[in-house]
Amino acid sequence: STGLLTRGSRVRTPSDPPCSSPFFGGEFGLIPGSNTNYLMLTLICQCSHAQSRRLTRMGKDTWISDILAGEYDGQEVELKGWIYRSRGSNKIRFIVVRDSTGNIQCVAKREALGDDFFDELKSSLIESSVILKGIVEPTDREHGHELQVLSGEVVGSVNPERPFPITESAMAEADGGETEFLLDNRHLYLRTSRMTTMLKIRSSVFGAVHSYFRDRQFIEYQAPNFVAGAVEGGSTLFEVPYFGRKAYLTQSWQLYAEAAMPALERLYTIAPSFRAEKSRTRRHLTEFWHAEMEIAWASNNEVMKHGEGLVRHIASTLLDERSEELSSLGRDLNLISQYADNPYPIIRYDEAIETLQSKGVEVEWGQDLDYSKEKILTADFEVPHFLTHYPRIAKPFYHRPDPEDPKYVLCHDLLAPEGYGEIIGGGERTWSEAEILERIDEEGTPRDPYEFYIDTRRYGGVPHGGFGMGVDRVCTWLSGAEHIREVIPFPRDSRRVTP
Ligand code: 4AD
Ligand code: MG
Repeated sequence: STGLLTRGSRVRTPSDPPCSSPFFGGEFGLIPGSNTNYLMLTLICQCSHAQSRRLTRMGKDTWISDILAGEYDGQEVELKGWIYRSRGSNKIRFIVVRDSTGNIQCVAKREALGDDFFDELKSSLIESSVILKGIVEPTDREHGHELQVLSGEVVGSVNPERPFPITESAMAEADGGETEFLLDNRHLYLRTSRMTTMLKIRSSVFGAVHSYFRDRQFIEYQAPNFVAGAVEGGSTLFEVPYFGRKAYLTQSWQLYAEAAMPALERLYTIAPSFRAEKSRTRRHLTEFWHAEMEIAWASNNEVMKHGEGLVRHIASTLLDERSEELSSLGRDLNLISQYADNPYPIIRYDEAIETLQSKGVEVEWGQDLDYSKEKILTADFEVPHFLTHYPRIAKPFYHRPDPEDPKYVLCHDLLAPEGYGEIIGGGERTWSEAEILERIDEEGTPRDPYEFYIDTRRYGGVPHGGFGMGVDRVCTWLSGAEHIREVIPFPRDSRRVTP
């Protein structure tokens, strides 16, 4: 093996005898006869109650998915992972081990392992970490492969007085119900297969955002998270004490991206955005991941082409990279193909209002559409739809009024089907100095925090636009999750900042 031997990785297991073991030999990197050895042995012996005699080999070469794919049939492997399930008798144990790539059944026999290690394995609880060496055997059972264990070690044992807390019965008995229990234990829940699957899907979505923009010569650009003014209205601003002054956590990268637009022309980011959303809904987090782009010389239509392009690219990337994971969540892959392969229709806000009114929904012209309305509107959509030309009064100052009818702004929201609703908000920006001042004043916003923003218009302003896509929302919609907090490792909302 190419694995490294390091002292730092030693751990003690309950059955470790005191430090008098043949493991401390030249074989493990000690130089015979040197003073350093003496010192190391002393240190090791002094620590023997906290650490193990064993020198766990670092590094990992064998992954369960490769074993299941038949790459090691008949060969001896060293498997590293965590005990997922264990059953059997006093003579033979069937131990399902998991790693980040899958699960495999390992067969451990007393006669092959000897009493010490067999008993240690037998008493090891779920989520103990183990190294098992053995021979890979193809079988016709469940996963098609088994490991016949020859030797191994328990690396990190679980104290029997404090077993892994996530169990069916604990969930059933939890005071605050199952959902709160799992949120309280989120740091451990991450290891379950559902959460691992979500995190893999999420990683592919992030990767697809980067590849979409980078393949089109966009430059990745970073804006500050501490800011002095709002982007998306004052009601959801998080205030932060800032050395005797007030600062805010940014709601969007956009304004600082517009400052860099004359420098880079095509730019994007994926960054956290913050909104003090008081109500807990299935689509809102207080800290969410925001994929945003800004592009010079572009109209609302060109920006929408990129929004459609990005979402279709994400859907097709998921089909390429995560079909298995999506299927394991019960997601219909035909739907994802539909979102990857078809163009997204464009309708005007006014048409959407008429549609809603014709369905008996009480909605007035001039309102921004909230979830209850988007849900009804998108229930019969087969693919995402753009809604354009919102009333000027419904949108923040940076949206450009339509020169053909300044009651409206040149903007868009992209609404996802299946009743999901908004995943993207964007549009053309107000780009002349006179117009931006008019829009800021009309909103009653002080100009001061926006001087840098107005300067973008004073020195060679050009038409431009961009959008922001809620990455967590896209993950929720495409994975078919019920709630946005299912797709982010440590969800933040008005009631929770822990763990
Ligand atoms: O529509 P929004 O507010 O637009 C902006 O922030 C623009 N400044 C973006 C831009 O043009 N660069 O937010 C954009 C998207 C929404 O469509 C939604 O998907 C997501 O961000 N989003 C949230 N996601 C999760 N939790 C929240 N509280 C969210 N608020 C917005
Ligand atoms: Mg919006």
